[in-house]
Amino acid sequence: MLPIAARIRAAAALPLAAALLLAALAVPAQAAAPAPQNPAAAPSTALPALSDKASAILARAAGDPAQARVLAEEGGKAAFFCANCHGDGGISRYPEVPNLAAQNPAYLLGQIEAFLSGRRKDEFMQGLMKVLSERDKAAIASYYAAARPLPSGPPGTARGAELFAQLCATCHQPDARGAETFPRLAGQQPEYIRRSLRRYLTQSGERIYAPMTAAVTRLGAQNIDTMADYLAGLK
Ligand code: HEC
Ligand code: HEC
Repeated sequence: MLPIAARIRAAAALPLAAALLLAALAVPAQAAAPAPQNPAAAPSTALPALSDKASAILARAAGDPAQARVLAEEGGKAAFFCANCHGDGGISRYPEVPNLAAQNPAYLLGQIEAFLSGRRKDEFMQGLMKVLSERDKAAIASYYAAARPLPSGPPGTARGAELFAQLCATCHQPDARGAETFPRLAGQQPEYIRRSLRRYLTQSGERIYAPMTAAVTRLGAQNIDTMADYLAGLK
């Protein structure tokens, strides 16, 4: 197989897609058309399936520190293109782009597969994931998982902490660092969190996970900002 740089160059439409997406990211959120309701998307309570091959590569490395280092280094190289948006070391360069630093590797693998299967919708990311080999997926997940997180903002309010403990901590863990396929939220970009929560709440179709829709419904649209600021301020 070609090295990843060649595969990315070979995906001829990609530079255009990247330029379009970067242009789209520059548009303020209010200017975006309201996302249509998607009645065809049945609420799903299943988590995204992981690729067996990539999971096996990760699991083997997890049992062998030397192999884990090699895999993470390889991932750092494979992630050169990702850094255009997700930043060096997985600290995002744009408010709407998630940090990947210290994210749980199983969650990262699950989301890569979700983009590939179309269960998670983002035109650019869905196209880009096709260039990744199984080895690249595992290497990139292990690279970002080992990267150091940065808190994105000042500490949130006690109300944010209380709501999180009540409604979110059972899955995302009391420290908001998640586990396995439950994403880390601590230190995440607040604008990305806001957007994601609104999408689950309104079932706009980009992401489908019924327990998240239920959790944000209990949280209430009026508390989304409080929650985003609280999570962004955690380490
Ligand atoms: C042009 C900008 C751009 C580039 C380049 C890019 N991404 Fe993304 N990525 C995004 C955006 C925007 C999202 C959020 C999509 C959404 O809102 O659902 C995202 C989401 C993700 C997610 C989901 C994270 C989460 O917290 O759920 C993963 C994993 C990811 N990208 C991996 C990668 C990898 C691996 C590469 C390189 C091979 C890459 N991305 C390159 C813009 C980019
Ligand atoms: C029943 C378990 C569960 C509960 C309760 C829950 N979550 Fe989640 N959350 C998940 C899972 C699993 C995902 C990933 C789902 C997917 O693949 O779309 C997720 C995704 C998210 C994301 C997107 C993260 C990313 O990196 O893209 C945010 C933000 C989030 N949750 C915040 C919250 C908040 C805030 C609450 C409480 C109001 C909450 N969650 C309650 C399980 C849960």
